[in-house]
Amino acid sequence: MVIEPKVKGSILLTAHPEGCEALVKQQIQYVKNSKKYSGSKKALIIGSSSGYGLATRISLAFGGSKTETIGVAFESGPKGKRTGTAGWFNTLAFNEVAKNEGINYKNFMGDAFSYEMKDEVIKYIKEEFGQVDLVIYSLASGKRTDPVDGVTYTSALRSTTGGVTGPTVDLDTDSIYTQTMENASEEELKATVKVMGGEDWDMWIKALAEAGCLTEGAKTFAYSYIGPKLTSGIYKDGTIGAAKRHLEQTATNLNAYLKEKLNGEAYTAVNKALVTKASAYIPIFPLYACVLFKVMKAKGIHEGCIEQTHRLFADMIYGNEPVIDEDGRFRPDNWEMREDVQKECEEFWAQLTPENFKDLSDYEGFRKDFFQLGGFEVEGVDYSADIDLDELSKIDI
Ligand code: NAI
Repeated sequence: MVIEPKVKGSILLTAHPEGCEALVKQQIQYVKNSKKYSGSKKALIIGSSSGYGLATRISLAFGGSKTETIGVAFESGPKGKRTGTAGWFNTLAFNEVAKNEGINYKNFMGDAFSYEMKDEVIKYIKEEFGQVDLVIYSLASGKRTDPVDGVTYTSALRSTTGGVTGPTVDLDTDSIYTQTMENASEEELKATVKVMGGEDWDMWIKALAEAGCLTEGAKTFAYSYIGPKLTSGIYKDGTIGAAKRHLEQTATNLNAYLKEKLNGEAYTAVNKALVTKASAYIPIFPLYACVLFKVMKAKGIHEGCIEQTHRLFADMIYGNEPVIDEDGRFRPDNWEMREDVQKECEEFWAQLTPENFKDLSDYEGFRKDFFQLGGFEVEGVDYSADIDLDELSKIDI
């Protein structure tokens, strides 16, 4: 089958295995050519198949310590006419290189929010893998079934300050249009915190600690975002911002819990705005990313997932240049938040029109990043070639 990109709104419905493989290999090569660090021996990455979680796994495995990793993700392989998800193909590509280089790994595909998944991972750590010294929580999901009450919560990306209107991109027509983010109901706010807040991270860490799966001094990090004034209406002051504050409060609580139990540590790392499956879905956010990329590229400080994550680990977590704010959060978003960067973003933002947005923002770069989420528009890949999905579906993840 010849695989072509299919887009519905801000979601890519198909994925190209060879494109995904090429991009994973590029990330691995980037890490191999970059600064080395001595870090984790064994790590668990929850949300390991794309975006920041995948970049984390690559940095850890290939960045110096050959970290053995367990990855948990919610992805599916090819079935009938369905291509399989990009995260599935990314994981296959990671497996291949790790295996060739003798770096141990294990994957669990399924619902990280469930008790069953936690039990399975714990069993594997106890019986085969051994204790982990690092747990990364990098989940992004629209839904969560809380195993305690059995209710499925659906997050709603909404405002909490009365609604926000702003311009955003339309990838179908390569244009911009005005979008409104409605105000959230109490129910929607609560559901978003349930899905994207820290409750499940807390459950994972306590289950792992109580089962004896964490080493003395183990660390855990969850990824967060704050963002500048320009996006505060949709992010910081939106339902997702409330969820991130819950995540940050969870870090504080878990830090105290782990300190007492294992002399361990828990933090959030506030990452830079980037194009991922999760962020492309946030209203208005994509156009901010287009403007931000333009400004950061012009200043030579733009980073993708792998550059940002590798800097977080090599310089901050396992290096000696940590950037930590007064609330104890790691801040690899420090370049995005620079005053000069934000001043220029605001200037461009104020001038955006449907006619000039391609000049005043890096729309082309954003568009390419978006299609690359599914392994499309990657140089050197023959997109007219027939892909044998049946063969691919037989490979064990
Ligand atoms: P992503 O969509 O690329 O990755 C999400 C991961 O979660 C995937 O591995 C997916 O398989 C996994 N997942 C989703 N639901 C699951 C479930 N029920 N069970 C198991 N795995 C599941 O997203 P991205 O952007 O890498 O997000 C990761 C974290 O980074 C999120 O907390 C996000 O808020 C944060 N972040 C993202 C930024 C961005 O601009 N993309 C900026 C700063 C923080």
